[in-house]
Amino acid sequence: MVFELKNVVPWGRNLAEYRAMFGLTDEDLQKQIAGFGDGPASFNAELTRQGGHVVSFDPLYLFDREQIRQRIMETKDIVELQTRGNQSNFVWKNIRDVDHLMQIRLDAMTCFLDDFDVDNSRYIPHEMPEKIHCADRTFDLGLSSHFLMLYPELGLEFHIRSIVEMLRICHEIRIFPLLNLNAVTSEMFLPVMEYFSKDYQVEVRKVNYEFQKNGNEVLVIQPKI
Ligand SMILES: C[S@@+](CC[C@H](N)C(=O)[O-])C[C@H]1O[C@@H](n2cnc3c(N)ncnc32)[C@H](O)[C@@H]1O
Repeated sequence: MVFELKNVVPWGRNLAEYRAMFGLTDEDLQKQIAGFGDGPASFNAELTRQGGHVVSFDPLYLFDREQIRQRIMETKDIVELQTRGNQSNFVWKNIRDVDHLMQIRLDAMTCFLDDFDVDNSRYIPHEMPEKIHCADRTFDLGLSSHFLMLYPELGLEFHIRSIVEMLRICHEIRIFPLLNLNAVTSEMFLPVMEYFSKDYQVEVRKVNYEFQKNGNEVLVIQPKI
């Protein structure tokens, strides 16, 4: 299927949010990290600036900075309107209100755009679940924020193939959140747990991050000890 920019809602989180969502320790941040569906998040830009090693994969990177910037501008008002209409689905604590949310997201996406302009070798166009041109276990840690689980309509086969490929190139992977867009447990959560429990150590960890109500758990999949 052709990946079209008009179908993407680019929306990016920052390093502090990635740290909290995935329960990343200082030691984790020194690992070789792959971010799947990182889109316009500033995680890669910020961690690279701090000496970290991140490669991000997303079909969005097929497009240039100006095309992505325009798409962000086209969609931000729609996202803002939808968030204002669904405020009860979110926990307004660290993020105080919708204005604060918009500021945080736009700051993160501006940081991404500036970094993407300077060095896009850390941003690889790739659409899950396709095979990635990387050797087995290239990365220590693979992260998926707000893509897998969030869209259960992509189906179980899509989720399994995507995770199998993530586990091929990463030693360990983490997926956040475990909810769908309606802030209830993703229909993909149990079948994915069941499928990977056969060969891997699969664990749900509580994390110190909750913006979507009840979205405070991360799924960790790694080789059995
Ligand atoms: C809601 S955004 C999340 C961005 C970022 N991970 C974050 O949490 O800030 C979802 C991302 O998934 C990407 N995406 C859509 N289809 C994809 C696919 N088949 N494979 C990988 N990423 C995909 C989109 O381009 C978008 O950047």
